[in-house]
Amino acid sequence: MQTLDLKLIGRGKVRDIYEYDARHLVFVTSNRVSAFDVVLPTPIPNKGATLNSLTRFWMNKFTPLCGNHIADGDHSGFAREFAASLSATEPGQVEVVKRAEMLQVECVVRGFITGSGWKDYKKSGSVCGHRLPEGLEHCAQFPEPLFTPATKAETGHDENIDFARMCDIVGLEMGTKLRDLSLEIYSKGRDFARERGILIADTKFEFGVIDGELCLCDEVLTPDSSRFWPADEYQPGRDQRSFDKQIVRNYLETLAWDKTPPGPELPQEIVQKTAAAYKEISDKLTV
Ligand SMILES: Nc1ncnc2c1ncn2[C@@H]1O[C@H](COP(=O)(O)OP(=O)(O)OP(=O)(O)O)[C@@H](O)[C@H]1O
Ligand SMILES: [Mg+2]
Repeated sequence: MQTLDLKLIGRGKVRDIYEYDARHLVFVTSNRVSAFDVVLPTPIPNKGATLNSLTRFWMNKFTPLCGNHIADGDHSGFAREFAASLSATEPGQVEVVKRAEMLQVECVVRGFITGSGWKDYKKSGSVCGHRLPEGLEHCAQFPEPLFTPATKAETGHDENIDFARMCDIVGLEMGTKLRDLSLEIYSKGRDFARERGILIADTKFEFGVIDGELCLCDEVLTPDSSRFWPADEYQPGRDQRSFDKQIVRNYLETLAWDKTPPGPELPQEIVQKTAAAYKEISDKLTV
């Protein structure tokens, strides 16, 4: 029987990571929200549990394409006890995962032109080195999804890299595998979400190696790792209303804040809207 006195070995922007045993970790997915890579002081109720259940949902769906880090067996009893031993934590926030050797790249896939991709395109006509046709409108769908990897920066912002640089980091064979798999998983997820009225504009995957096998790790197609847009309101040529963290980002853009820590408190209205958005996304995709 595992004691509940586990060692905290890492604290990411969103997840607290504990050592379960030599081969497993416990992720406690907090209700923290980060924007522009800064963790804000105001939590979003239920966010952590929603991220965990969505990630599980997608990881299960994608098992024919790729293994994942979810630990074998039923750990719900442990999750209940461990949550109770922490303050303000629900069992749904606790996930036991297999420890992976993480690949030091972020596998970003973009289906629509927005965010930094749009800024890139306006300046250079390209997105992360992919030359694109002229005259694309803001938020237009790319003819084909683009794979635009980034480094996993220890601190600060991740840096976009081209495919060749990525292969310098992980090797050509692994780089090719990561690219093809990322595009395949994104496309399957995009088609599934589309039928439920959601456009997945872009997303980020993280992969790791577990017992020599390439596995999907971290979080998958969640509002934290992706941009989700309501399909029935979609119209290229303007910003899209967003189900997800964009609510927080848009609010922050109205402030004079310079996007360095500490981040500002969020007003209750933004907290409620964001919590509702996370729930709406999750219900639409999984219920
Ligand atoms: N199965 C796994 N084994 C080991 N590490 C993992 C596994 N799955 C995810 N990770 C790592 O655990 C961390 C998750 O924490 P969190 O999402 O809060 O981090 P983050 O702030 O996004 O950090 P980073 O900037 O490093 O991605 C990430 O660094 C991720 O790469
Ligand atoms: Mg993360």
